[in-house]
Amino acid sequence: MDAQEMAHGSAEAAAVVVYGATGHTGRFVADEVRRRGWTAILSGRDATGLQALSDSLGGAPVRVAAIDDPASLDRAIAGASAVINCAGPFLDTAAAIVEACLRAGVHYLDVAAEQPAALAVFEQYGERAREAGVVLVPAMAFYGGLADLLATAAMGDWPEADAIEIATSLDSWRPTLGTRRTGERNTARRLTFTHGRLEPLADPAPTRVWRFSGPVGTQDVTAVHMTEIVTISRHLKTTEVRAWMNLAPLADLRDPSTPSPVAADESGRSDQTFLVEAVVRRGDRERRASARGRDIYAVTAPLVVEAASRIIAGKVSRRGAFAPGEIFDPQDFLAALTPEFLTYEVSPPEAPATAGGREAQQ
Ligand SMILES: NC(=O)c1ccc[n+]([C@@H]2O[C@H](COP(=O)([O-])OP(=O)(O)OC[C@H]3O[C@@H](n4cnc5c(N)ncnc54)[C@H](OP(=O)(O)O)[C@@H]3O)[C@@H](O)[C@H]2O)c1
Repeated sequence: MDAQEMAHGSAEAAAVVVYGATGHTGRFVADEVRRRGWTAILSGRDATGLQALSDSLGGAPVRVAAIDDPASLDRAIAGASAVINCAGPFLDTAAAIVEACLRAGVHYLDVAAEQPAALAVFEQYGERAREAGVVLVPAMAFYGGLADLLATAAMGDWPEADAIEIATSLDSWRPTLGTRRTGERNTARRLTFTHGRLEPLADPAPTRVWRFSGPVGTQDVTAVHMTEIVTISRHLKTTEVRAWMNLAPLADLRDPSTPSPVAADESGRSDQTFLVEAVVRRGDRERRASARGRDIYAVTAPLVVEAASRIIAGKVSRRGAFAPGEIFDPQDFLAALTPEFLTYEVSPPEAPATAGGREAQQ
């Protein structure tokens, strides 16, 4: 089997490169790839750290590769079914890895939280990915991917909506070093989607009160510039997309003394809890979808690995750069992660999924 055949080969035999495998998120992703019975090829620039991780996993393959060394990236991804890029800031890593994936005909997913990194994948590489016969899915993570799936599920069979709002409540946010570095590195203007266009978010950001369901209850929230603004506005027909977050996690993030996440159980997950709500409005009608779970870093692993598995298994026939709701049936996707990694609800429950068997039709 040559590299091209392997790249489009069966899900059973998948070998997935996890770039940035030594990072906090990369470890969760490598674990999830292996849990599915696939080979996780551990990759990144830190040879010592990668070897130590491999030893701790009983000898997973290691391929050292640097972002500024294209030949090393080509060797790292040769023969793989997909690459999952967990090395952020993605403004520094995504372009070089996408280029390598296009050269090799290998699918690419990342967990970028930076709007300009996700935008660049869509705008600079979508057409080339189509020509190269690969799928690119940026921001397939807690921020970006999860909200996009929820918004698509809430939209149901509506062809368009007046506005789509995402509200996230975290009980706390202990940021990793990668999160802090990414925030410092990303100096681009924060974007929101209004009047049908990506526009700079007002400074100071607008605030409001959001009535979250269940025990989370009513919270003050502020407008945030998450990647879902970019993904949702690419494919759901609306003129307004807003993302909101409660204030406690943002205060944690701003405080340089807030420590990194700590494992609360054997899985490595912290005890941080999240609730994400997507509300879609059309005239005087409203549809909602929400998801609850634990640990925004840990839940990113099943999200991005589930996406990779659907692409590798041939459930996506389109080629190019996509938001998750464009190529996956959102309710079917979320159901696959329930209840182990999250729980979700769509209301009214009879709202048919937009994708409605779309995966099957592709
Ligand atoms: N969208 C979301 O919901 C979401 C969720 C989770 C994570 N993320 C993002 O994922 C990124 C990683 O987060 P994390 O928590 O895993 O951070 P982390 O624990 O600090 O790990 C960062 C990883 O990226 C690697 N890396 C960084 N810059 C690199 C470069 N220029 N070349 C090669 N490798 C590089 C690091 O390698 P070294 O050790 O060699 O520096 C390390 O393996 C961040 O950008 C974060 O925002 C987003």
